[in-house]
Amino acid sequence: MPRKVTKAIFPVAGLGTRFLPATKSIPKEIMTLVDRPLIQYAIDEARAAGIKEFIFVTSRGKGALEDYFDNAPVLEQELRKKGKTELLETLKNTNMDSGAIAYIRQHKALGLGHAVWCARRLIANEPFAVILPDDVIAAEKPCLQQMVEAYEETGGSMVAAMEVAPDKAHLYGVLDLDQDMGKIVHVKGMVEKPEPGKAPSSLAVIGRYILSPKVLQNLNRIKSGAGGEIQLTDAIAREIEEGRDVYGYRFDGQRFDCGSKAGFLQATVSFALARPDLRDELAQYLHTVTEHSKAAE
Ligand code: G1P
Repeated sequence: MPRKVTKAIFPVAGLGTRFLPATKSIPKEIMTLVDRPLIQYAIDEARAAGIKEFIFVTSRGKGALEDYFDNAPVLEQELRKKGKTELLETLKNTNMDSGAIAYIRQHKALGLGHAVWCARRLIANEPFAVILPDDVIAAEKPCLQQMVEAYEETGGSMVAAMEVAPDKAHLYGVLDLDQDMGKIVHVKGMVEKPEPGKAPSSLAVIGRYILSPKVLQNLNRIKSGAGGEIQLTDAIAREIEEGRDVYGYRFDGQRFDCGSKAGFLQATVSFALARPDLRDELAQYLHTVTEHSKAAE
């Protein structure tokens, strides 16, 4: 099995109900952290990891995503006329070469596993990555790149992993550890959204995966799992049952849950503080508001 990963699936079919009314007319993935849409962070991370083909699993109402990755000739012409070369450069990152990007519709919200399965015909017999754009990871070396490098050594299937508090484990897929080698763990089972108190460990799956194409075949066979949905976790767990290797990878970096309002706001502040043009003013403001709220207590 080749160990080069060149394709990534981005499941973006979700309704984003937690961000209504904003998501009534804009896809959640277009919402901005500072000045870049959520999806741009995911694309940049994929590119850094060597991904060449980008597969979006979308749904009704996600047209803005397709426009975002298209050329914008009128806008570009206007910027060129005005000599705004820096902005033109920024726009370049949003353009995709013809044929590098594909959109597949998930017609029914049947779960993450089903979304990934919808892209099966574009994957063929090669390993592929899955990136959940809601999980934004700030890291010196982008998370998927860390994983691709580890995967070149291990093969098998690999999921990003992070320690979570016991009272939060029921929100995640959770790993059952066979052998803990530090950064890499060999996994003997995986449970999606375990009942409170029943998680096999405190190591949770975060939305970055490198998967064997066999996982797609498993998705053909599994029944609906947690929440009545076809779960990607269950299809990966099937790999273990069939004697193939699955690893967790403890990535370096900070993960923000941008599927929640609190996580989105934390990411916004954190990314803004990392920007030289915004840092000082924002830090000053945050200092002032925290002092005020302390004084008000
Ligand atoms: C999904 C996966 C889950 C994983 C989580 C990470 O769940 O099913 O295994 O732990 O992403 O963000 P969701 O958050 O979509 O319910």
